[in-house]
Amino acid sequence: MSQDTWTAVEHYLVDELIPSDPALAGALERTARAGLPPINVSPNFGKFLHLLARLQGARQILEIGTLGGYSTIWLARALPDDGRLITLEADPNHAEVARANIDAAGLGDKVEVRVGKALDTLPVLAAAGAGPFDLVFIDADKPNNPGYVEWALKLTRRGSLIVIDNVVRDGSVLNPEGDDTIQGVRRAVAFLAADPRVSATALQTVGSKGYDGFALALVTGDAER
Ligand code: SAH
Ligand code: DHB
Ligand code: MG
Repeated sequence: MSQDTWTAVEHYLVDELIPSDPALAGALERTARAGLPPINVSPNFGKFLHLLARLQGARQILEIGTLGGYSTIWLARALPDDGRLITLEADPNHAEVARANIDAAGLGDKVEVRVGKALDTLPVLAAAGAGPFDLVFIDADKPNNPGYVEWALKLTRRGSLIVIDNVVRDGSVLNPEGDDTIQGVRRAVAFLAADPRVSATALQTVGSKGYDGFALALVTGDAER
């Protein structure tokens, strides 16, 4: 089994299960045209996040790492009429592209894009009494994953879900002497393993984006406030 097979199977599954959609296709097109990197989640992972949010009955969602807003649109579409999503993005240009994509998808009223490094904007959110969020999707700079998990726990409640993207990275997660990215992933995994307030798993994935994986954690204890 190889990359070609993973890509072909992904195309088959996406063609079957995920009808083409002008808002999502437009978001990807504008994201590419603006020169942003093609590191958005795949359509089938986007739909998976959407279904998780619906299963969860999520009314408040927090995303860390917006890019062009592709995963944001998938998640925000799961919200009820009065639901809200806050997404955190460090790069003002990415945030601007995302804002346009989110507005074009008709989700402007539900979604707020906050510009700034997430480790700076998360304390501001917490101080303003934001949350508790029902679902947190962590998908920004990987070296800061441990800090993001810590903040996610402060901003959630018993029963919330935390999803962390890119925890396998071609298997590089195995290297205890890896770079900052790998250390960030490994420390976040260790954090989830050790913290009594969460119950976590992680799955390996293959597809058009190669071999990677995600972690899923259920908050089982009350967050610190
Ligand atoms: N979730 C998006 C992909 C996010 S890519 C999707 O699937 O569509 C990661 C994003 O995190 C990039 O846009 C990058 O600019 C942003 N980022 C990097 N460092 C960050 C930081 N310290 N705080 C907030 N966002 C950051
Ligand atoms: C990268 C980041 C991501 O969030 C992702 O899903 C794939 C790649 C990256 O920084 O290379
Ligand atoms: Mg990612």
